[in-house]
Order: sequence, then structure tokens, then C-alpha cells
Amino acid sequence: MKDHITPHSYQISNQDRNEAYKHNSFLLWFTGLSGSGKSTIANVVEQELFKIGIKTYTLDGDNIRKGINNDLTFSPEDRTENIRRIAEVANLMIDAGLVVLAAFVSPYKKDRQNIRTIVKDVNFVEVFINTSVEECERRDVKGLYKKARAGEIKNMTGISAPYEAPENPDIEIKTEVETVEDAVKRIVDYITPKLSRQL
Ligand code: ADX
Repeated sequence: MKDHITPHSYQISNQDRNEAYKHNSFLLWFTGLSGSGKSTIANVVEQELFKIGIKTYTLDGDNIRKGINNDLTFSPEDRTENIRRIAEVANLMIDAGLVVLAAFVSPYKKDRQNIRTIVKDVNFVEVFINTSVEECERRDVKGLYKKARAGEIKNMTGISAPYEAPENPDIEIKTEVETVEDAVKRIVDYITPKLSRQL
């Protein structure tokens, strides 16, 4: 089937959209354990960007897994497929001119590498929300760690499934020693030059 697909050449390009919206489009990818603070920080970053007129959209583990990826489990294979689909969706959104924020555990290095390949290196900003499993378990916002300890949830990242920390993230946030405000400021400062069209 694939062999019989010819992409149509549409006249409005990504560059046209970037010019019209007056900023570049790229992907800000938040990785970290469940409960590390990915969504909280992404949410505030998005509000800051929105305030200054940047066109944004946020993709989040808990909403994507209720919709487009509701057929996927937390097995290693399904997590890989989860991340692949999200990267493809993000890629379309980048093409549409948006700054995409994505908050997913994304525990496997090879899957994060695949995102980089799909959206292209230049469009990928990796933000490692580095909160220890002890702290995530102490917070246990969703009660998942308790369930994992009780054996009610299998494959829980950090407890019974691995988390492969990024070795060289663009930004690393240690939520145990840094406030949300400081973290957000650091992220916004980092991406500001990337937003301007010349770069
Ligand atoms: S990923 O590993 O495939 O990237 P994703 O970010 O989509 O995970 O979903 C993680 C969210 O699903 C967590 O924030 C948590 O609320 C929930 N969840 C349910 N079961 C698990 C599990 N076994 N491991 C991690 N997160 C889980």
C-alpha cells in the first residue's frame, strides 16, 4: 500500500505559517517519572508563551491515553508505540506552526531518540524533569505508587519498570531544589532565541 502513496504538494508551507505567526515552531518534550511535575511545569510554560502571543498546544500522557492511544497498555512495546504516535502528531503540529509541549514519562532512550528522528533534531528540545522516585512516591498525587507497591499496578515506571534518564538533556529541572517559577523561567529563557524567525 505504502508504495502507492504520493504526497500532494500543498502551497502553504511551514515557513509561511512561521512567518504569519511570527515565531518558529518546535517541540518541547518533558520526560520524567509519573508525578515528577512534568504536566505542572508544562502547563505554566504554556501559559507564559500564550501570554506573549505564541501559538501553542500541549499533549499529555493522561489525555492522549484516553483518546488516540486508548488501545495501548504500559508494556514496553506499547509505550514505544505510544511515543511514536505522539511524535507523529507533534510533527504535524510543528508543521502547522505551533510550539508543541508534550509531557510523557517516555522512559526509554531509544523512544526519545526516535522522536528526535521524527521531528528532526533542530525541532526537539528535551526537558528532563528530574524528581527522584522517592519524592514521586512521597507525593503520590494519583495514588499509583501505593497501588504499584500493593501489586495492583504492574509495570509501574520507577517501581517495577525501568526509567532510563536522559544523559544529555537540553534542560534539567530538579524539582526537589527548584521552584516551579524558577524552572519555568529557565525553560522560557532557553527557548526564547529559538522562537525568533532568524534562528
Ligand atoms: S509512557 O511511559 O508511555 O510515556 P505516559 O506518559 O503515556 O507513559 O502515561 C503515564 C501516565 O499514565 C502516568 O502519569 C500515570 O498517571 C499513568 N500510569 C498508569 N499506569 C502506569 C504505569 N504502569 N507506569 C507509568 N505510568 C502509569
